Amino acid sequence: MIRPRDPNELRKLPRLLRAVAWRLPLEFGELLGKLSYKPIDRCLNKDKLVEHISERGEAIEETAVTTGQRKVLFSALAHTEKMSEDIAEIGAWRGITTAAMAGHTVRRVYAIDPHKENEFPGINEAFEVFRKRTSPFSNVVYVRRSSGDAAKELSYIPLSLIFVDAIHDYINTWFDFRVWGSLLVPGGIILFHDVDDHAGSNLACRRILRQKNYQVWGYCPNLVALKKVAEA
Ligand SMILES: C[S@@+](CC[C@H](N)C(=O)[O-])C[C@H]1O[C@@H](n2cnc3c(N)ncnc32)[C@H](O)[C@@H]1O
Repeated sequence: MIRPRDPNELRKLPRLLRAVAWRLPLEFGELLGKLSYKPIDRCLNKDKLVEHISERGEAIEETAVTTGQRKVLFSALAHTEKMSEDIAEIGAWRGITTAAMAGHTVRRVYAIDPHKENEFPGINEAFEVFRKRTSPFSNVVYVRRSSGDAAKELSYIPLSLIFVDAIHDYINTWFDFRVWGSLLVPGGIILFHDVDDHAGSNLACRRILRQKNYQVWGYCPNLVALKKVAEA
């Protein structure tokens, strides 16, 4: 795979280069996402869905993942439970979904989040809460890094399930799909959150749905799951 440029690295370039290499593609992706926006349930063949929850369900405290979306996540965990490869979550915030997954699997769960100090309101507290909430789970491995840095560090680790819930714009969602998807073994499942509520993630998701080596597997509004059927 030709490794795509890490948006997090492009952000650190000097001003002019950053404007051309990061800001422009970022804004273009968001604009294209808004102009071409289409709810994901109108982009997939519902007959192919193994798990389909038609309503979002109830809100869950401290996470934007709803009860309906969590059901798809748990089904994907159960479906892949016989696989021996590890799990990765990209974007862990306060650890609600990390702990939920860790409690429903014997596999190792890599929780990737830079929890970058003072980056935005609530992040410092989210880090503390995440540490407390996940510490009882011996199968959680916390990787305090950005998605791109963590993908480099874990590049030799095959994965059976990946939950992408980090930066919800086009360039980051597509980047996360490319780098993390390359670690997913055939038969494994990758899930994306916020594919209906964020125009950029929606655009990336529509592109991902067209990849021939993936088959749509599950859907609840704002969350989609795809099964890898072959290497690219
Ligand atoms: C939507 S929250 C994750 C929510 C979590 N999955 C849950 O449901 O509770 C997004 C998280 O992505 C993290 N994040 C920001 N930039 C990131 C990056 N470059 N790579 C990975 N995670 C990042 C943020 O720190 C934040 O905690």
